[in-house]
Amino acid sequence: MVNEKLQQLEQPLKEQSLDVQGFESPRSLMETVDEDLVPLLDLAHRPVISARQFSREQLVQISRLASKFETEPQRITRPLTGKILISAFYEPSTRTRLSFESAWHRLGGDIMSITDPASTGIAKGESLYDIGEMLNHYGDMVVLRDNDEKAVYEMLESLRIPIVNGGNGVDEHPTQAMADIYAILKAHPELAIANNIAEDKKIRIGIIGVPGRMRTIRSLLLFLSLFSDGIKEVLIITDAPDIFSDGQQQELEQNGLNLRVSDTLDNELPELDIVYINAIAWVSDTYEEHGTNYRLDSTSPLKPGAIILHPLARGDELDRSLDNTPFNWYFAQARGAVFIRMALLSAILKSYS
Ligand code: CP
Repeated sequence: MVNEKLQQLEQPLKEQSLDVQGFESPRSLMETVDEDLVPLLDLAHRPVISARQFSREQLVQISRLASKFETEPQRITRPLTGKILISAFYEPSTRTRLSFESAWHRLGGDIMSITDPASTGIAKGESLYDIGEMLNHYGDMVVLRDNDEKAVYEMLESLRIPIVNGGNGVDEHPTQAMADIYAILKAHPELAIANNIAEDKKIRIGIIGVPGRMRTIRSLLLFLSLFSDGIKEVLIITDAPDIFSDGQQQELEQNGLNLRVSDTLDNELPELDIVYINAIAWVSDTYEEHGTNYRLDSTSPLKPGAIILHPLARGDELDRSLDNTPFNWYFAQARGAVFIRMALLSAILKSYS
């Protein structure tokens, strides 16, 4: 074993490759949609708390801007030079914190990062309202993740700089859902244009998870409802009872989303163009697992050309045997999160590269 590991060290690292599923596709989004920054002007100096704040045009243009950053990184200037991001993550995170920080760095800004609330006045009972008042003087934007869904609203009360919700309890995770929409538009750029898709070409999306308990799914469903005209059906796959929160299903259906619930996976998979899977919901100081009976692996009866999305972190529900298959768009989704966050930050700070 030790010898095997030593041999591994003697090999050069694999080339950093852009040859991942979903990388070439940003170009097709650029070719499908003309750039129009006007819808983004309304985002300038605004907080981002909920997916409800966004229009379809804004999501399409943020995605288009992200695709420009992704395909032409050499053209990125440093418009955030001299600006400071306060990255306050009071709950664990790999992707959201690091991709926000990567996005901010790539745009030229500096970062102050808090990863433990106990290292701030919170440990002495200080309110988020008072901390927000201080942050006004220390930085130019805040990204907050907190397991209490009210925290982002409490800080917002005293903030005069924009705040972005990096996940508030089980409520919402709007920028993760933006990364999901970016991946979906790369795979299906025809969705970007309203009323563009014939009835028989509309797509079917399967979501394995519990909409009422998972913030990523809550925000994603709100965004998907903006694209209802191109979506034949959103199928929720779960064996849990009471899967929607109060009024959630009604709101989505009123927005035009055609929802169906099923408790079986394999007989639905051959009809799904997009399969979104998530099994973890962060609740309070720990996490809940949902849908442990559902599992995707390389033997799953997936439709040819289908894509799998997962907000990650994954567990047993998404097997590594899928990583080297064309179904794997979850790594491209996580990679795209940097570019979509760059686009969002540029819009909020009106600092276009
Ligand atoms: N997708 C997501 O929110 O991942 P992290 O918890 O690692 O930020």
